[in-house]
Amino acid sequence: MEKKKDVNCSSADAEKDDLQELLHTLEQHKSWDSRPLVRYERIWLPVMLFRPILTSQKHFKAEGTDIILTTMPKSGTTWLKALTFSIANRNVFSIHQSPLLSYNPHTLVPFLEYTIYRDQDNPELENIPRPRIFSTHMPFKILPDSIRESECRIIYICRNPLDQFVSHYHFMLQNKIEKDAIPLELDEVFDMFCQGIQPFGPFWDHMLGYWNAHLKNPQKVLFLKYEDLKQDISSHIKKIAEFIGFPFSAEEENQGMIEQISRLCSFENLKNLEVNKSGYFIGSIKNSSFFRKGEVGDWVNHLTPAMAERVKNLTETKFQGSGLVFKM
Ligand code: A3P
Repeated sequence: MEKKKDVNCSSADAEKDDLQELLHTLEQHKSWDSRPLVRYERIWLPVMLFRPILTSQKHFKAEGTDIILTTMPKSGTTWLKALTFSIANRNVFSIHQSPLLSYNPHTLVPFLEYTIYRDQDNPELENIPRPRIFSTHMPFKILPDSIRESECRIIYICRNPLDQFVSHYHFMLQNKIEKDAIPLELDEVFDMFCQGIQPFGPFWDHMLGYWNAHLKNPQKVLFLKYEDLKQDISSHIKKIAEFIGFPFSAEEENQGMIEQISRLCSFENLKNLEVNKSGYFIGSIKNSSFFRKGEVGDWVNHLTPAMAERVKNLTETKFQGSGLVFKM
């Protein structure tokens, strides 16, 4: 038994050494908050997530009933987590006893890279009640193979680039992790954004990866836009429920279940819960920083018309011929 443990330890150590070696061969760049990004498979990843991402790629075994929520940061991840958790567990917890009232959505739906594989190579995931719901910011092309190959479902939510950029910039200012680090100015950060240099960027490649996967297999990948959910949440709650195989019965609809879930997960409700006004996610990120304004079009208050024009032109060029468009 001891021997087996030794063998396991040394293979895990060897794996870590290999990753460390690989990391040193890759291009790095300072991120918006001065922390390093590394360019892996043409994607800018936070260095601190490099090992967890590669480890989860190797070890995570998706099951057919799993639901994987995928997003670019600041695109509606928290909202999608709250919604999917509530829809999938509506027969387990009544709305008035929802765990969302006492836990931040990121606690209930953990990230593969920030939480589950953060410190472990082989976390215990067997005892999680089914359907298991996980999330990740990984682009489609670097997802663990088992997510792409199993019957599990992927729900992607994205957001127009101008609001995503502004949201991310504020999030970074709120969560300045290294006390002495001087965050970059908005102009400088904006320039990096346009060059694709941001965590999990380039922005456009992230979206196109999931968009193309959705076009290829819409039963496998549901593609949502933050702006559409803001416009009509009820029809999207129904859509998510059908997609994950938990459609609402006529009785549930008549009883107002969709409206109750919509209210529970609304920005105003979640933002004002004690758990989201205080407390931290992964030790250093304020729960409150996941709830800023929750609006479409806030970018007009922060970006110049010239900046917006630059992003609009870039977006048109990048998405040309893809069929993907945004309301900004
Ligand atoms: P703003 O910074 O524009 O306000 P993520 O969850 O991917 O980190 O994205 C955070 C963004 O989603 C923030 O946008 C946040 O305010 C908004 N948000 C969080 N919860 C929301 C909810 N329940 N409904 C709508 N928007 C929400």
